[in-house]
Amino acid sequence: MIETSAPAKIILFGEHAVVYGQPAIAVPVSSLRATADVTPNIPPGQGLRIAAADLNEILPIRVDTEIVDHSLAATARLVLKTLNAVPPDVTITLHSTIPMASGLGSGAAVSAALGRALSRAVHQRLDNETLNALVYEMEKTYHGTPSGIDNTVIVYEQPVYFVRGAPIEKMTIGAPFMLLIGDTGQGALTRVAVGDVRKLFEAEPERIQPILEAIGSLVKQAKIAIENGEISALGPLMLQNHTLLQQLTVSSPELDRLVDAAVNAGAAGAKLSGGGRGGNMIALVTLDSAESVRQALLKAGAVRVFDTTVTRN
Ligand code: PMV
Repeated sequence: MIETSAPAKIILFGEHAVVYGQPAIAVPVSSLRATADVTPNIPPGQGLRIAAADLNEILPIRVDTEIVDHSLAATARLVLKTLNAVPPDVTITLHSTIPMASGLGSGAAVSAALGRALSRAVHQRLDNETLNALVYEMEKTYHGTPSGIDNTVIVYEQPVYFVRGAPIEKMTIGAPFMLLIGDTGQGALTRVAVGDVRKLFEAEPERIQPILEAIGSLVKQAKIAIENGEISALGPLMLQNHTLLQQLTVSSPELDRLVDAAVNAGAAGAKLSGGGRGGNMIALVTLDSAESVRQALLKAGAVRVFDTTVTRN
């Protein structure tokens, strides 16, 4: 059996401003993954089938149509078209441990795992650059005008310093650091938050542009700190980034409550992560502070808390 996968991701610094050309930093969360298993059909002759493990159902994939009946079918069609391949006679089963609609990139990870599985099933090479472009196309159908940061970090599974339109810059991690990811449990549409920031920017560009630039400057400082292993510099930068995101109106009372709870329990810094208005926040912790911060997050309303360590690569 063939198994392929792709990780979740979190944005450390620079969300929203990245849409306006400022840099952002994102890292993979390798412990949360989408996986795709490929098995030959028995009996043969059933065509390409995709089984989403969460839907108790197998989708027969019609590849001879342009109708977007299902996002997984659309992804499969796009991959086969790019590879100039006919649908293989296999069942691809998808699983994911990544919570959906919470800014962890579950859609992009599923698309990436499926793309990899299909290319293996048709015995063709699909390099990361091509896969990244394909996953970006799928992201556009979900999110409108994504910056491209999610698909990039997920496909390359590397920390990235991302500037829209610029070549991908992989980052080195000078010293490992630990984060808790706290989920507000409130689903929020990134598309809506991005649209609202756009309206704000268009209404008051002279007020909003300096906020975006201030975020960009924090991201540049964070990059230097991360590469040099100066972890103690990151906490204050996260808090400043959160304040600027509040000014862009993308935080929420729940996110603010989790950020405050984390800091009061000993986190060196915390901020919302991703589109905001719900979804996740991150807190910078140490092995010593992790447990008390985790408990504080749960007490303050987090529905789940993951930990992840950003390591040297
Ligand atoms: O909600 P997420 O984690 O997919 O993050 C979106 C990040 C934004 O900067 C808000 C939008 C984008 O396309 O970069």
